[in-house]
Amino acid sequence: MKEIKVAPIKNGTVIDHISCGTAFKVLKILGITDANVDSTVSVLIHVPSKKTEWKDMVKVEDKELEPIEVDKISLIAPDATINIIRNYEVVEKKRVELPDVAIGILECGNPNCVTNAKEPVKTEFVLKSKSPIRLSCSYCGRELEDIVDHII
Ligand code: CTP
Ligand code: ZN
Repeated sequence: MKEIKVAPIKNGTVIDHISCGTAFKVLKILGITDANVDSTVSVLIHVPSKKTEWKDMVKVEDKELEPIEVDKISLIAPDATINIIRNYEVVEKKRVELPDVAIGILECGNPNCVTNAKEPVKTEFVLKSKSPIRLSCSYCGRELEDIVDHII
């Protein structure tokens, strides 16, 4: 029997198959960390999963994600699926996809990089490897460490 832990939502987005322990980072990306949240958000941590043993889930009511938010989520939860819910039905399901080139969503860790200069240019990182995720700055070549801390 499939146990239902949290009620289905009527409209919004379910971010599913987030690796266990990563839901907080997804909340951070979505800006759901302070008082000005304006949607109902359910967070499920460490729930049983068919595909892997455990997963996290984030349900955001009455909101569909911007492509840039999906790109950011792909960097920290590469197996996540984005389900769009309308009138209780899953009308769209897609797996996040790591962009080959990430533009304007990450900051370079090199303080001397031109992208960190006084009048910065838009950052650009090229995907070197998917698993583990490795990205390098197109401007200075430095490989990005601690990806989550460098998401803009
Ligand atoms: N969901 C929800 N509210 C709805 C419909 C679905 O919260 N009105 C949630 C489900 O609980 C599930 C996710 O959205 O976690 C995706 O729904 P569905 O595609 O029906 O589930 P699965 O087939 O199990 O998804 P997958 O194959 O991606 O694992
Ligand atoms: Zn750089």
